[in-house]
Amino acid sequence: MNPAGASERSVTLFEAVGGEPTFRKLVDEFYAGVATDPLLRPMYPEEDLGPAADRLTLFLMQYWGGPNTYSAQRGHPRLRMRHAPFRIGAAERDAWLRHMRRAVDRLDLPPDIATALWDYLERAAFFMVNVLDDPTGTA
Ligand code: HEM
Repeated sequence: MNPAGASERSVTLFEAVGGEPTFRKLVDEFYAGVATDPLLRPMYPEEDLGPAADRLTLFLMQYWGGPNTYSAQRGHPRLRMRHAPFRIGAAERDAWLRHMRRAVDRLDLPPDIATALWDYLERAAFFMVNVLDDPTGTA
């Protein structure tokens, strides 16, 4: 144990990637993709994607060890519940992940950090799926 604590303090991923500006860049890039996506764009209730981008930025910052501003403003994340009004099947999930993959790649992060971030985003996106696709394609 180091009595001063400082040198053993673990660095959060939030700090390692460069803090808020990096998350803003990630989400701005992601929403630039969503803005032109024929499947995803109509799902967003607000005309202006800015507030949605802000919510996602604050959530991701909080998740990765940054300030708890998201919960201070929105309460407990309960993300599956908050996504319940939207029909999220495999196509929506894959479109979401495609824009996110491009956004992560644009950050040019060290590979281990990019992998940690991506693994989480991919798992979270699969978790958000709330409709079973009809295998016969007739639904
Ligand atoms: C799988 C595909 C997904 C789709 C199609 C989708 C779609 C949406 C839509 C339409 C909204 C409403 C926009 C708003 O008012 O904020 C929303 C909100 C949100 N989404 Fe997703 N989402 C997906 C996955 C995810 C994932 C994986 C995360 C987290 C890693 C996430 C985090 C959020 C957050 C934090 C909000 C704002 C919640 C709030 O405070 O109201 N979403 N999403």
